[in-house]
Amino acid sequence: MKIWIALLVAALAAGAYAQTCSCDTMKWATCDGSPCTCSLLIGNNVKQTLDCKRLVPKCFLMKAEMYRKLKGQDTRTGGKPVETAFVDNDGIYDPECENDGKFKAKQCNNTEECWCVNSAGVRRTDKGDKSIKCDKLVETYFVRLQLTHKPVTTPVDTKGLKTAIADAIHKRYDNFNKDMVANVEYDADSRMIVVDVKKPMGDRKSDLTQLAYYMEKDVKVLPLFKDQEKFEPTVGGQKLEMENILVYYVDEEAPTFTMRHLSGGIIAVIVVVVLAVVAGLLVLFFAKKRQNQRYNKAQQREMEPM
Ligand SMILES: *[C@@H]1O[C@H](CO)[C@@H](O)[C@H](O)[C@H]1NC(C)=O
Repeated sequence: MKIWIALLVAALAAGAYAQTCSCDTMKWATCDGSPCTCSLLIGNNVKQTLDCKRLVPKCFLMKAEMYRKLKGQDTRTGGKPVETAFVDNDGIYDPECENDGKFKAKQCNNTEECWCVNSAGVRRTDKGDKSIKCDKLVETYFVRLQLTHKPVTTPVDTKGLKTAIADAIHKRYDNFNKDMVANVEYDADSRMIVVDVKKPMGDRKSDLTQLAYYMEKDVKVLPLFKDQEKFEPTVGGQKLEMENILVYYVDEEAPTFTMRHLSGGIIAVIVVVVLAVVAGLLVLFFAKKRQNQRYNKAQQREMEPM
């Protein structure tokens, strides 16, 4: 029994170690194994092993940046604003609405398959059957609008960008509160404008999801407005025409999708625990067997004199 416990403790310790296998000094590094080793992709199938206790040499960083740029991966801007952010991978469905136009928390698209949505109507749970429970409609309080603009002749004036974007949003989307345009970042190489729109948690007066939907249509399809104008902020006297948009949703409560891919750390934990349990059971089995053998021999010896 003692061995069993010792093995389990060892497994948990190994697990805790595996989970912290990450690189503090380089966010693009991939880490795996125990002992934990981290590496950075700096070319096609060229990996550079890193010492994550130290700053990464600049030459490696530059190589990695060039490689990512070549691959069209972001080098600075964009991506998930927080780990719990998610995008709409389902697209449109036939929703059930409340009388005031809000989404019902549970949606089934006229099928037997149902799921829970946030206030933007975007699925935030796995799909289930009709018995799935959605306690309440969870509010989206933060959207990241990741816009790409068409090529321009003169470089974009980044100083005036935030104001220009906030003004354009205010003007086009029903006097939207400019203060909620919390942050605007720009990456010239990828022509990407990242607009973070945030309201205070608990705020139920303003709605970010209409803004995001109207803008998505403006940029990707055709405007929902009658006027058919474009969402075209004027920055430094230059009009920025948009080419693409990706919306990230951040809800007041984290979504509950099951993990689609287990990270290396968690797999390591599972493997170690399973091995420990198997080893423990084997040890128990053989210990019992030996005990029985000894018992039988003793019994035989006692029988002999008779
Ligand atoms: C909803 O149903 C329609 C038509 O049956 C289908 O085209 C669409 O993909 C469904 N949407 C989702 C999110 O399941």
